[in-house]
Amino acid sequence: MSTVHAARQALTDLTPSRERVLSDAIAGLSAQPPRLPSKYFYDAAGSALFEQITRTPEYYPTRTELALLEQSLPRIAQKVGPRVHVVELGSGSGRKTTLLLEALDGPVAYTPIEISRAALLSSIDHLAPAHPDIEMLPVCADFTQPVDLPEPEEEAARRLLFFPGSTLGNFEHDEAVVLLRAMRQTMGEDGLALIGVDLHKDTATLEAAYNDAAGVTAAFTLNLLKRLNQQVGSDFDLQAFHHRARYSVPRLRIETQLVSDRDQEVTLDGHRFRFAAGDAIQVEYSHKYTDESLQQLLDAAGLEVIGRWDTVAPQPAFGLRLLRRR
Ligand code: AVJ
Repeated sequence: MSTVHAARQALTDLTPSRERVLSDAIAGLSAQPPRLPSKYFYDAAGSALFEQITRTPEYYPTRTELALLEQSLPRIAQKVGPRVHVVELGSGSGRKTTLLLEALDGPVAYTPIEISRAALLSSIDHLAPAHPDIEMLPVCADFTQPVDLPEPEEEAARRLLFFPGSTLGNFEHDEAVVLLRAMRQTMGEDGLALIGVDLHKDTATLEAAYNDAAGVTAAFTLNLLKRLNQQVGSDFDLQAFHHRARYSVPRLRIETQLVSDRDQEVTLDGHRFRFAAGDAIQVEYSHKYTDESLQQLLDAAGLEVIGRWDTVAPQPAFGLRLLRRR
């Protein structure tokens, strides 16, 4: 029988309040150059648009990582061993999580960690019926900080943190180190982490992936302004900004911006922001890794690689890394 155990307090919704979103937006737009946090892409419409991005022909990461998981999981499962407590950063309801849970040797429990209570519960609703022998222990929390995990009823041999999708790439260097250190703490003594990272490759492939021809990524980026208009009552003119995503080779990252088409003024809660034609708001980074750039982050966080699986050409370069505490 499948059980969903969670302390009442562990499921308190932590979805950011209007005040929090407003103060983050004002702080970001007041910075030079102006910026907005990419975490605010993911309201209901933004999450649906991201799902649509993963189905565009240009956005290779999701399908590439799935294929790589499918090939590599038997070997990963051997290294991880039996009876683990699987802990996913973000709520997985999809194929990646299912593939992992099915490949592992008798995992005892599954904990998605997720800020949105609704997303968390819906992921459990999808996964629990298919995995009756795995205890479901959802936790509502911010995974960029160490998380106190519930103990499974059946004692686990170790924890396995799962952080797929190259979500790590959305964090700038210092934030990524803070996050990896938090993971190091959350994973515990003999814990492991399996992360998916998109790898550095030719600019044309990368820029196509973030500028799909159907314009789904552009709609996803612009939805950030729509969300702000809805949640904090700002007056961004969605017709007067356009999406731009370019790969910086020296910085190893896609830099996504919203560019003003004309001279304009935007008001948020009485604060006014001026944009000249061509002025850009920085809204997302998607870092692409080399062995060296990833090693730097892991060194700074006290983690080491004990297993690596990379795609083989002609597939676009994508990697899985099994990590432990150093
Ligand atoms: C799922 C957050 C890693 O950065 O590639 C896709 C989000 N943004 N297209 C990424 C995204 C534009 C995606 N992450």
